[in-house]
Amino acid sequence: MFNDTSSLLAHLATRRSGKARDMIAPGPDAATLRDIIALALRTPDHGKLAPWRIVTVANDQREAFAALLKRAWIVENPGAAGMDLSALDQFAHQAPTLLVLVSTPVPGAKIPVWEQQMSAGAVGMNLLHAAHAHGFVGSWLTGWAAYSAEVATAFGAGEGDTIVGYFFLGMPSRHLDERPRPEYDAVVHTWEI
Ligand SMILES: Cc1cc2nc3c(=O)[nH]c(=O)nc-3n(C[C@H](O)[C@H](O)[C@H](O)COP(=O)(O)O)c2cc1C
Repeated sequence: MFNDTSSLLAHLATRRSGKARDMIAPGPDAATLRDIIALALRTPDHGKLAPWRIVTVANDQREAFAALLKRAWIVENPGAAGMDLSALDQFAHQAPTLLVLVSTPVPGAKIPVWEQQMSAGAVGMNLLHAAHAHGFVGSWLTGWAAYSAEVATAFGAGEGDTIVGYFFLGMPSRHLDERPRPEYDAVVHTWEI
């Protein structure tokens, strides 16, 4: 069983992302989505800088998101005009709910930018945990759409900001499969001098 929310330990031991393209309704309603985001904001944040922003993309804006992706893709790949861009449409329209998480490190702060970026990653992890705790599945995706300067700007990213990922939420329509995990001993060592 995946995403067993009967206890925190059970949840941590069974957590599994969903596949965005397989997600179906319902997604969280407005109050639940607000709670999911509020839970995720309770994240380690050295210096209390809140160096991250979350942008919700309402479903009536998905078409505009798809248009943005296609426009940016053609700007970056001029030869693509007139080609089949349905993969971008699919990306923009998949899953009932979409959030965009942006890392917005505070320039000149005492806290190193790397730490501020890690805090944004921690928000991402917490978004998944909070969505799963509410009975949904989440999926954290990046790809070209996260690294396009034009797309990032449209989500409010300024100089030094980065899209951490697109967070798709919904219900799984298919059985989730286990994913191989690293062998404990391959990644954990006792420090010896
Ligand atoms: C920063 C980041 C970006 C990711 N981007 C993608 C992506 O673009 N496409 C993809 O298939 N998986 C991507 N993943 C992996 C999935 O979100 C997911 O973690 C993975 O499929 C493992 O599932 P799990 O969360 O159940 O361990 C990304 C993960 C992270 C941390």
